[in-house]
Amino acid sequence: MQNSKPKYYLTTPIYYANSRPHVGSAYTTIVCDVIARYKRMCGYDVAYLTGTDEHGVNIERAAEKAGITPQVLVDKNEKIFRDLWKLLGISITDFVRTTSDDHARAVQTLVRRTMERDAQLPPEKRSIYKAKYEGRYCIYDNLYVTDTPEPADCQICGRPAELISEENYFFKLSAYQDRLLELYKTQPQFVQPDFRLNEVRSFVESGLKDVSISRKTIKWGIPWPGDPEHVFYVWYDALTSYMTGVGYGEGLDGEANTRFKKFWPADLHMIGKEIIRFHAVYWPAFLMAAGLELPKRIQAHGWLLFEQEKMSKSKGNVAYAEPIVKTLGNDALRYYLLREVVFGQDGNFSREALITRYNADLANGLGNLASRTLAMVDRYFGGVIPAIEAPAESTLWSKDDLGVTLSKNHAPEAVRVAQDAFGRFDFSAYVSAVWLLVSQVDQFLAIAKPWSVKEFHDLQAILYRAAETLRIAVVLAHPVIPEATQKIWEQLGQAGKLEDIRIDRLEWGGLKPGTKIGKLEAVFPRADKKETLEKIETMENELRNPGSASPAEPKPSAPPTTEADVPKPAAAASPAAVATTEPAKIGIEDFAKVELRVGQVKSADRIQGADKLLKLMVDIGDEVRQVLAGIALGYAPEELVGRKVVVVTNLAPRKMRGLESNGMLLAASAGADGKPILCTFAEDIPVGSKVK
Ligand code: MSP
Repeated sequence: MQNSKPKYYLTTPIYYANSRPHVGSAYTTIVCDVIARYKRMCGYDVAYLTGTDEHGVNIERAAEKAGITPQVLVDKNEKIFRDLWKLLGISITDFVRTTSDDHARAVQTLVRRTMERDAQLPPEKRSIYKAKYEGRYCIYDNLYVTDTPEPADCQICGRPAELISEENYFFKLSAYQDRLLELYKTQPQFVQPDFRLNEVRSFVESGLKDVSISRKTIKWGIPWPGDPEHVFYVWYDALTSYMTGVGYGEGLDGEANTRFKKFWPADLHMIGKEIIRFHAVYWPAFLMAAGLELPKRIQAHGWLLFEQEKMSKSKGNVAYAEPIVKTLGNDALRYYLLREVVFGQDGNFSREALITRYNADLANGLGNLASRTLAMVDRYFGGVIPAIEAPAESTLWSKDDLGVTLSKNHAPEAVRVAQDAFGRFDFSAYVSAVWLLVSQVDQFLAIAKPWSVKEFHDLQAILYRAAETLRIAVVLAHPVIPEATQKIWEQLGQAGKLEDIRIDRLEWGGLKPGTKIGKLEAVFPRADKKETLEKIETMENELRNPGSASPAEPKPSAPPTTEADVPKPAAAASPAAVATTEPAKIGIEDFAKVELRVGQVKSADRIQGADKLLKLMVDIGDEVRQVLAGIALGYAPEELVGRKVVVVTNLAPRKMRGLESNGMLLAASAGADGKPILCTFAEDIPVGSKVK
């Protein structure tokens, strides 16, 4: 049977598969899931795509660091992404891996199609051409440092990068300036929010440079059709995944697939703000060159900050989703992110705030409202939804004077405000509108006091209104908290799946009097803050250092390191040498897992109440890290400033005395009292250099 529903196609960025996803990557995916669910409840046939970006140098590097092949690394991480999306109840229809055969076919088809069109044009008008590329490449870190021939140092190891000169395929982005500006003018919705469109427009107005879209130096990529010495260079490959997912690549023109015909162009590419140029400038130009339709909207959101910075694996300031979901449930994280972050702006992530929100809005708010309303329906009406209205002469309505009586108008007003907010993608306003309704029912029950009402009709009317408003709140909240709302739905005695209810056709009176309610159960048990936090932090530490299961704060009895308060005598300077038991022999690949770099101390301060710890800010080349080091007995803070030290830079962050330490300094412990002596260099050496 032909599906007559209108279509809606949305995508997340495809995430780099070089490490496990954190709450920041989960944020985009959750927001998109809320949109996908909402659109389905508005009657759309929704395709929702996510995936993993598995090519490129950063994957090669991560694999090399882990001592495994890139394929093994991406297979492992792709599974972690998929498992997390499952755990979070993400309703994707498509998952693209850029290493899949389907994707290689799509990328090659797109470029072939573009080159075929080019062949009809004079050479100077062609979009893809071969030319000499010159850039600087670090052979130690396998990284393109700059795309210009001028000398440059690697931002990772500090060594001078080598000049690479090779033939590459280029995309003539410079020829698309006018067409792009015209696009932004005629379709201002193409980039949202508006201020991002302005940024993109000024960038394009300032002139565009052609971009190299292939490389010879890299092996881990999709081969260029008919010229396999070249592989596609990152963005051309990655962006095409949005078409692969809905079937692009079949047939000579690439468009034979019926799914592709139905779903392309995408209605929405949701992205973080840092990748807007690739989406709002490169991508439409690539598609124009191939004569394909453009996506309708690029929506950029802000970053989730953790400890004042963008949550990011390379900075080490990440929180993971799994411990939260396993402790408080999937809905808790989804609700918190949608409610707390003003969509489009940067937002702070805090586990404490998440638990507070959970208790206030979910356990005490919606959860409590559902259980008290339905418990009263059970008690006063034998578990059957009562009749709708009290007679006109009822004394109940005089309580309107109090201005809090829940009238039939509250719910339709909430529906209107919420739907309007959703249309603007103002998710926090959407959630607030629904929770305002929840609190209105609460106030209504507190004032109407059904437990002391004598008049039977009044009691019926009060509880009908409360239960019907609960039904409406639950329908509206479903895209955000799908699990708990489905449970309350069943407790309300409603059959079938809540996701099949039309959110855009919500009307007062949908709850049928006479309906037998379901089995009552608390959906959001209250969480003890301290205990929950500890559980989450313990699980987080386990994810960071598998097998450690160490508590968040090291106990005084923990094996001492230079970070800890209690240095003990130990002979050598490597981190392994401070273990209390005889260290096992390790292979070079294990040692290679420890990333060591030359750092320079920028500032050093004592920590109140800790006589052995110092708080240092250490420049490690591309960032300045906070490191807590147990060296106060050996050094005064002022003698450390400017000093070069050796820093373990890939140690999972740890908290001590409420402060986070992002790394560790190498030091020997001398003499019986274990006085710390910092490792340092006799020769001068650039900050950020790798120590191997
Ligand atoms: N692989 C590219 C995207 C290619 S799309 C054709 C990439 N991957 S990424 O793993 O770095 O993921 C980027 C996306 O993850 C961001 O655009 C954003 O959607 C999400 N986020 C990653 N960290 C985030 C925060 N700290 N906060 C919010 N979103 C974050 O770039």
